[in-house]
Amino acid sequence: MKLIAANWKMNPESEEEAKKLLAEFGAIKVPVEVEAVVCPPETYLALAEPAIRNMALGAQNVFWENGGAATGEISPAILRSMCVKYVIVGHSERREKLHESDEEIWRKTAAVIRDGLIPILCIGEPLEVRRAGEEKIREFLEKQLLINTATMTSFCQTLGPTVIAYEPVWAISTSGTGLEEEPEDAAKTIAFIKQVLKERCGSENTKVLYGGSVNKQTAAGFLKRPEIDGALVGHASLNAGEFQKILESAG
Ligand code: PGA
Repeated sequence: MKLIAANWKMNPESEEEAKKLLAEFGAIKVPVEVEAVVCPPETYLALAEPAIRNMALGAQNVFWENGGAATGEISPAILRSMCVKYVIVGHSERREKLHESDEEIWRKTAAVIRDGLIPILCIGEPLEVRRAGEEKIREFLEKQLLINTATMTSFCQTLGPTVIAYEPVWAISTSGTGLEEEPEDAAKTIAFIKQVLKERCGSENTKVLYGGSVNKQTAAGFLKRPEIDGALVGHASLNAGEFQKILESAG
């Protein structure tokens, strides 16, 4: 079953627009062999839950503790109480703009799993690493994935339901490079990620999604590859008609 997640990022700009988009999402028909997830900004989660039929709810971020003093943060327990199933963790925009560290991302991933939610852990190389060649890309991804060797054992122990999203930073539509990943290259890198998970953690069934400029034109190319278990869709998920087409190319 392919997993297609809509990452709305900091959109839409008003509650009124969010209600409109959610109503359109409520009318989307999700193909039987596809699981669709909507990750709106957290302020729209309560609106989204009753509006999106046949889709799961996702959050874009989380704190690693339940309760206590953490001004401005949202806990796994709060997300669970709002019927959230998936949580995006370690998105490259948070790594870059908010300087989220591997350590913090590790703690968030573990907290999400502890509370019975499913992390969508984002990894992906920046352009300079891409240009340095395949060996460097692999080194970079392996490090991001396993966070660091000291925590590797516990990462493997808790890997459990974690979904990985491979998003080359330079291929994200708003990265400004204008470059796009080829489905064949994405499939090759995802096969490598799966090999690492198998060799290091003995995991053979971790889902790995592709993300970065997936839209109605490019979706089928990625989703028909057996190595690619789905997509994390940013910009193109802000249009319900386009998201419907992406779901259809996964079905
Ligand atoms: P994009 O974003 O589909 O707009 O490239 C994907 C993401 O950042 O998750």
